[in-house]
Amino acid sequence: MPLLVEPALPAGSLGAHEQPHLPVRPGLTLRAWREDDAPSVRAAFDCPSIQRWHVRRLDSDDEARAWAAQWADRWRDETAASWAIVDHDDRPVGQVGLRGVLLSEASAQVSYWVLPAARGRGIAAEALAVLTRWSFTRAGLHRLALEHSTANAASCRVAARVGFTEEGVARGSVRHVDGWHDMHLHALLATDPLSSG
Ligand SMILES: CC(C)(COP(=O)(O)OP(=O)(O)OC[C@H]1O[C@@H](n2cnc3c(N)ncnc32)[C@H](O)[C@@H]1OP(=O)(O)O)[C@@H](O)C(=O)NCCC(=O)NCCS
Repeated sequence: MPLLVEPALPAGSLGAHEQPHLPVRPGLTLRAWREDDAPSVRAAFDCPSIQRWHVRRLDSDDEARAWAAQWADRWRDETAASWAIVDHDDRPVGQVGLRGVLLSEASAQVSYWVLPAARGRGIAAEALAVLTRWSFTRAGLHRLALEHSTANAASCRVAARVGFTEEGVARGSVRHVDGWHDMHLHALLATDPLSSG
């Protein structure tokens, strides 16, 4: 059946281009993942506070390499994207990315984590602000959604610092290892004011 509304963005809007390097500030950059990032990926997935808010675990170096390698395909498929947040030595200190990319609606959900040793310096908000700006001004997205458990106060602060507006609570919508969590919903539109994080 023909569509009544044309897709907001054409196929190829992301995948026809190289995944960009995005500078955050001196000593902090967003870049594509590489297989040799596997030790940092393992450290992240082994971190109890990251496990608390995510739904997958990694059991081997092979799985960590596969996790890093999958993003090239997902970028080309235009379904998701992930950037390593790297320090001045090009070592990953965190992750920021887009999930559930829908070019037809020009929308995606954002995702982030920071390795424990790099926390406490506002890195997630800075990285998210840069990704958000790129998503709206370069990728042409219209809406970014952000959701976190109502028990995850740090994530809520990240959302607020970047200017994501609160949109409500989806009750019992995500299951973590300790059971169902209410999810606090935020979103930012391309037309909303963006903070620098
Ligand atoms: C959420 C996360 C990415 C933030 O990392 P970060 O950028 O280093 O954040 P910071 O430690 O600088 O803290 C950011 C803000 O949260 C606050 N915060 C940090 N830990 C907190 C806690 N346990 N309870 C309440 N507030 C907290 C900080 O005080 C700061 O607030 P401010 O903006 O008012 O100054 C990191 O804690 C993390 O990786 N957590 C586990 C994974 C996760 O929660 N991912 C998001 C899933 S939705």
